[in-house]
Amino acid sequence: MTANGPWWRDAVIYQVYPRSFADANGDGIGDLPGVISRLPYLAELGVDAIWLNPFYPSPQADAGYDVADYRDVEPLFGTLADADALIASAHAAGIKVIVDVVPNHTSSAHAWFRAALAGDEAARARYIFRPGAGDAPPNGWQSMFGGPAWTRVDDGSWYLHLFDTAQPDLDWTNPEVVAEFEDVLRFWLDRGVDGFRIDVAHGLRKDPALAELPETLDRNLPLHVAQPGHPFWDRDEVHEIWRGWRKVLDAYPGDRAMVAEAWVLDFARLGRYLRPDELHTAFNFAFLVAPWDARAFRTAIDDTLDGLALVGAPATWVLSNHDVVRHATRYGGGAQGQARARAAALLMLALPGGAYLYQGEELGLEEVLDIPDHLRQDPNFIRTNGAERGRDGCRVPIPWSGTTPPFGFSPTASAGTPWLPQPASWATRTAEAEHGDPDSMLSLYRAALDLRKERLGEGELEWLSAPGDPVLCFRRTPGNLICAINLGTSPAPLHPRVAGAEPLLASGPLTGDGHLPADTAVWFAS
Ligand code: GLC
Ligand code: CA
Repeated sequence: MTANGPWWRDAVIYQVYPRSFADANGDGIGDLPGVISRLPYLAELGVDAIWLNPFYPSPQADAGYDVADYRDVEPLFGTLADADALIASAHAAGIKVIVDVVPNHTSSAHAWFRAALAGDEAARARYIFRPGAGDAPPNGWQSMFGGPAWTRVDDGSWYLHLFDTAQPDLDWTNPEVVAEFEDVLRFWLDRGVDGFRIDVAHGLRKDPALAELPETLDRNLPLHVAQPGHPFWDRDEVHEIWRGWRKVLDAYPGDRAMVAEAWVLDFARLGRYLRPDELHTAFNFAFLVAPWDARAFRTAIDDTLDGLALVGAPATWVLSNHDVVRHATRYGGGAQGQARARAAALLMLALPGGAYLYQGEELGLEEVLDIPDHLRQDPNFIRTNGAERGRDGCRVPIPWSGTTPPFGFSPTASAGTPWLPQPASWATRTAEAEHGDPDSMLSLYRAALDLRKERLGEGELEWLSAPGDPVLCFRRTPGNLICAINLGTSPAPLHPRVAGAEPLLASGPLTGDGHLPADTAVWFAS
């Protein structure tokens, strides 16, 4: 709906987690031909673009975020020719393609790291090797997945890995590292991708003095969240890198875009990544950290819009991704979780800017909580000996059809079982089952995306509800749509402007008495 603006300012971008989306060859692991086979589903759903999690050659120590070669495709997922075919088929279906770049670290199986371990000095200088203090590591930094962020090698020195041991951090003060990644971007731009999702974009530059984390840090915040004075998150030097990348993209025709995964909750700081000569957009994690509460949601919305307006960047909205507990579960699970997830979808899709959908949220999938320990693969689970349950529960393969696992994820005749087990209860949550059901989550998403295409996108939001009201109600222009959502615990009066009106779309049953039931959202024309 953006008048002539670039597509990425208000796109609905569907996150495809290739391992778990669709398995064409029947080995139990999703692959690129599987994604191609499901493009008609995505076109019918009405998304503008897909973002693919990493599909590059990788030992899969962190589900592909340990990249061994940035210019090829992991054989588990297919071939480079499959990637080309996927890009071409998506474009033919009117869907843009964003690929993931992982610049903070390589895999320990990357040729550079292997050369470094073999004693090649130039290769070693691309990573962060330091002497320890006696038998102790160079400092006390901890890995995001648990345990020390340093591993010792044969010659007695240590290398830094903010994530898994198999993910050595690169030294971004080294010009060879800078040049290599700009070339990787060109490799994929030449193949026709429309943009990049940048992993850990708030990392990359570390305090050269390797200072300890300051005492002043708020220890209640997760380890990966930036805070003032942090020795490796959100340091000013990181912006040089993004200015270089922007020049690379700007040299290509068409509107190519970058989205930062930057865990920077302060919008003034986040906005710095979105200055006109840096990145185009950033994931907005405000809803991922907000409880189901009217004040919290309103603050998330206001802070986002006010903060990003300062740099002229569009907002993005995210309810779920491959790193967090699925929102139907975060919002209470069961019937309550479903009702709230339906309402949240209408809220998110009515807000100005772009939205990210994580595969399966349109089916109302919940976190799978009972994956047996021996099947779990997240390094976060493994490195903490299970103290952290990890992220496997939101990565369970998608149920497409049929009444028993693998629910069409793999061809039925195949020998492979899905790499993580699917709950039997997903029989009612397959794309096939929901397709024909007007009350399903899938039907709600499709209807909302249709209306959104006609009416919504970038533009203004005007609050009609007062701060503190359990019903958030706002009007969108252009598009002239009013959205109301009841985040309270009981039915509450609708704003007089819409109290008697016929809704365009509702997330749940309405009473028709001028009240909005709890955990319900509704759209009206205004
Ligand atoms: C990002 C990814 C996550 C990965 C980590 C390390 O946060 O989203 O899945 O484990 O970076 O690459
Ligand atoms: Ca496969």
